[in-house]
Amino acid sequence: MARCGVAVLVLILLVCVAAAAAGGRDHHHRRGSRASARLQLVPAAPGASLAERARDDRHRHAYISRRLASSASSSRRRAAETSTAPGPEASAFAMPLTSGAYTGTGQYFVKFRVGTPAQPFVLVADTGSDLTWVKCRGASSPSAASPSGSPRVFRPADSKSWAPFPCSSDTCKSYVPFSLANCSAGTAPCAYDYRYKDNSSARGVVGTDAATVALSGSSGGGADRKAKLQQVVLGCTTSYDGQSFQASDGVLSLGNSNISFAARAAARFGGRFSYCLVDHLAPRNTSSYLTFGPDANGAASSSRTPLLLDAQVAPFYAVTVDAVSVAGEALDIPAEVWDVKKSGGAILDSGTSLTILATPAYKAVVAALSKQLAGVPRVTMDPFEYCYNWTATSTPPAVPKLEVRFAGSARLQPPTKSYVIDAAPGVKCIGLQEGVWPGVSVIGNILQQEHLWEFDLANRWLRFKESRCAQ
Ligand SMILES: *[C@@H]1O[C@H](CO)[C@@H](O)[C@H](O)[C@H]1NC(C)=O
Ligand SMILES: *[C@@H]1O[C@H](CO)[C@@H](O)[C@H](O)[C@H]1NC(C)=O
Ligand SMILES: *[C@@H]1O[C@H](CO)[C@@H](O)[C@H](O)[C@H]1NC(C)=O
Ligand SMILES: *[C@@H]1O[C@H](CO)[C@@H](O)[C@H](O)[C@H]1NC(C)=O
Ligand SMILES: *[C@@H]1O[C@H](CO)[C@@H](O)[C@H](O)[C@H]1NC(C)=O
Repeated sequence: MARCGVAVLVLILLVCVAAAAAGGRDHHHRRGSRASARLQLVPAAPGASLAERARDDRHRHAYISRRLASSASSSRRRAAETSTAPGPEASAFAMPLTSGAYTGTGQYFVKFRVGTPAQPFVLVADTGSDLTWVKCRGASSPSAASPSGSPRVFRPADSKSWAPFPCSSDTCKSYVPFSLANCSAGTAPCAYDYRYKDNSSARGVVGTDAATVALSGSSGGGADRKAKLQQVVLGCTTSYDGQSFQASDGVLSLGNSNISFAARAAARFGGRFSYCLVDHLAPRNTSSYLTFGPDANGAASSSRTPLLLDAQVAPFYAVTVDAVSVAGEALDIPAEVWDVKKSGGAILDSGTSLTILATPAYKAVVAALSKQLAGVPRVTMDPFEYCYNWTATSTPPAVPKLEVRFAGSARLQPPTKSYVIDAAPGVKCIGLQEGVWPGVSVIGNILQQEHLWEFDLANRWLRFKESRCAQ
């Protein structure tokens, strides 16, 4: 376990280099040229179409809905005990976080080192997962390849700190999601068959191992200080199906669960974690951080809203939406749509790309936005209902402001590119998807981009503020 004696909070995020900030502003003023330059990233990546992302998001939404339904009807899932008093020695550590656009996915990737000696992996940072897993020796799939192009697998036998859970253990029976029920010999390894979405699953055995993290150094303290987090719950995935794991080595679980990496790491580092999502189309070399522990930039000037950590919605993070407005006008959306107790509610999910709104909310938001954009010629582009030929009009209208107000008067005012998105050169679409009603709405990572989000698990707050997320 890390001995982090120095209680120094270090600036990790928001160290906005002047040049980067200037570049960002530039983007707003000369949208045309910058936007098309950025878009070239997408066709260059395999399987990158928005239609495919939308399909992935719909499958994920089905998975989220199924899990919510099963946790509501089962007592197996207990309330997560993530609460922890931030100790006086609370320090922080951070992991570089990048957009996965270079691989054609709508996910964000984090670098993670696990085992003894530590082996590096690139994992999907996923607030909707409770099990962290990496592809293991023997993992096979039609075209398994890591982002670097070479197959990369974890070899438990080569790690001195790997310890499998027996299938009879309480952790296996009560906390490992999708653990297999059969456990004829009590000492047999704890096996899982983690179902993500309709045709995507990961199978393997679960245990613990050590993760190596870089502590945010004390003031000007030259050498990087590293710490080992012991007994991180880790799945060793030996087989998997589906497209969603081809671009990464596995998943880093940031969900609200007793065994998630987020819960365990936050328990040791200040009871909280935060991430800043760079533009979803940002190149690979643009990274921000996933930080555990207090963040010097996080709290003070942020908006905050209660974070709902109920067992009913675990492992997802729910928030209460009070109102949505377009161009300053509050929309007429029935309150049940935002009520988790009435089969509605909204969750924040880093693993969903496009925001999914339950029908009544979707219809209201899209009607209000499209009304304001009525003067622009429409084009058809899968999977969106409203797309516009932005070059067909000499004076494109200003995109109306969308505002989401959360409980506690916290206002999210995403940049226009987060909801009227660049879908092709010269084409913009209202980048939202319709979700079934009754059903949960999901705030996806595109709507979260260019904001710093802090999940204060100990005190049950979600804090956020606008940020370029540039280093
Ligand atoms: C449990 O069942 C699965 C298939 O359903 C099988 O692959 C696995 O070997 C079984 N595990 C044990 C410990 O019996
Ligand atoms: C899942 O796979 C089955 C058979 O391989 C196929 O029939 C089905 O359409 C797939 N479902 C989805 C949502 O892709
Ligand atoms: C998980 O839950 C068990 C039983 O409630 C508890 O003993 C354990 O400390 C919890 N672990 C974490 C990391 O919260
Ligand atoms: C990132 O890579 C792009 C080319 O892909 C290059 O133009 C840019 O300067 C790089 N940025 C940094 C910060 O290295
Ligand atoms: C958009 O309009 C321009 C000018 O009328 C036209 O040249 C272009 O083909 C249109 N683009 C699409 C995608 O329809």
